[in-house]
Amino acid sequence: MTPPYNSSKPDSGITVLKIGGSAVTDKNAKAGLAKEEEMRRIFKEIATFSGKIVIVHGAGSFGHTHAKAYGLDKGFHQEGVLITHDSVRLLNEMIVKGLREENIPAVPLHPFSFSVCEDGRIKSMFVDQISLMLDHGLVPVLHGDVCMDTVRGSCILSGDQSLPYVAEALCAKRVGLGSAADGVLDADGKVIPKITPKNFDSMKMHIGGSAGTDVTGGMLGKVSEILDLAKRAGIDSSIFNANTPGNVAAYLSGKNIGTLISRD
Ligand SMILES: Nc1ncnc2c1ncn2[C@@H]1O[C@H](COP(=O)(O)OP(=O)(O)O)[C@@H](O)[C@H]1O
Ligand SMILES: [Mg+2]
Repeated sequence: MTPPYNSSKPDSGITVLKIGGSAVTDKNAKAGLAKEEEMRRIFKEIATFSGKIVIVHGAGSFGHTHAKAYGLDKGFHQEGVLITHDSVRLLNEMIVKGLREENIPAVPLHPFSFSVCEDGRIKSMFVDQISLMLDHGLVPVLHGDVCMDTVRGSCILSGDQSLPYVAEALCAKRVGLGSAADGVLDADGKVIPKITPKNFDSMKMHIGGSAGTDVTGGMLGKVSEILDLAKRAGIDSSIFNANTPGNVAAYLSGKNIGTLISRD
């Protein structure tokens, strides 16, 4: 759903950065397993940036494995909701703590606490606090989460869905998605420089799910969400490899790397 209002001025200068679960966790692990060295390096790169930034991280093995085990992508399961939410909160806590260690004033925001979905899609999400936090120099850190759902009881609210919602609500200037691939790859494994509504249909056949456990559609889910953002709000996004040292800092310094997802 389209955010109800824009709390920021157009061209707000806000950057929204996703740190993919595949970049900072071992997605093949049966339970939550963080790649701590990778996290530390990425946080040091984020610390080079001084502008307004919202961070959204994926759930990786902290969420997808539980979500799959309890069928949370299909409907409500009380124990599943508790265990999955606790697990993604644990990852969020590690990430917020790691960012603080790099002197980034990170604050945790759990979408479960301020969002409602309708059949798997955001119906409403309270975001007024985010722009106020940014105005005061804080760095909000959201994440993939479980969410109460008016149709299914509960659902999985992926970081790939919250990210464009927040980006649109804040009129973000730049949206970057750091994942574990060099961008969106074609059949030969080469990075597709640009995806637009015009070429998406011909590229789609090369884009698939995740190599690890991911209940929210892997790369194809990600591209679909941010292509919609480009179409709806004219906000471009870049998908790049956050596991390549220097990439996060380069993106934050203004470079476009990886695949650009754009309206035209
Ligand atoms: N065409 C493609 N280009 C890049 N990655 C792809 C493609 N098709 C499938 N993938 C898989 O999707 C993964 C990215 O999705 P995902 O694991 O959900 O990342 P994240 O954890 O960042 O959300 C890649 O690491 C790769 O395994
Ligand atoms: Mg994913």
